[in-house]
Amino acid sequence: MSKKKTYEELGGRPMLEKMCKVFYDKVYEHPWLNQFFNSVKQEIIELQQVDFLQGGLGGKKVYCGKLPVPAHKHMYITSELYQLRSKLLLESLIEVDASKELTDRLIKLDLSFAHALIKKSTSECEKRYNSDEFLIIPEPNMKKAA
Ligand code: HEM
Repeated sequence: MSKKKTYEELGGRPMLEKMCKVFYDKVYEHPWLNQFFNSVKQEIIELQQVDFLQGGLGGKKVYCGKLPVPAHKHMYITSELYQLRSKLLLESLIEVDASKELTDRLIKLDLSFAHALIKKSTSECEKRYNSDEFLIIPEPNMKKAA
């Protein structure tokens, strides 16, 4: 089996910055996903994601934000929403010409949080702090159909 590439060999921080920009452009343009980010600045979430993924790919550990489970406990993340996000992630990796190894490792990392972030019902949502608000957002087309 060939040796696992280092973070730098995978394109390092410049590659992650490029990919996260393309990815969040898609997220912020999407009529369902973007509603989760109404109060979040795109430049900030891009930076947080680059820092987070850098650690996950073996780069320098600089991420000091919340871990995925506490960061998303107030959001009603269904498997449809998760799959949609994964699809945009894959499209972004293709658009920036990421290598097969980088693509495989990022998709694997992303999927490793699925069981912990996907909720079966809104009753599984928990506030992060007392005055927090739940993010329970129906898929826009479903709202129209109802
Ligand atoms: C459909 C699934 C997801 C949705 C809707 C979502 C949405 C969000 C939103 C809205 C924030 C900003 C929270 C805030 O600042 O108030 C956030 C933060 C974050 N997300 Fe996600 N996310 C999803 C999946 C993931 C996955 C799979 C990962 C990791 C692989 C991830 C990693 C992060 C990180 C690292 C932060 C920053 C956390 C912090 O320090 O506050 N997210 N996400």
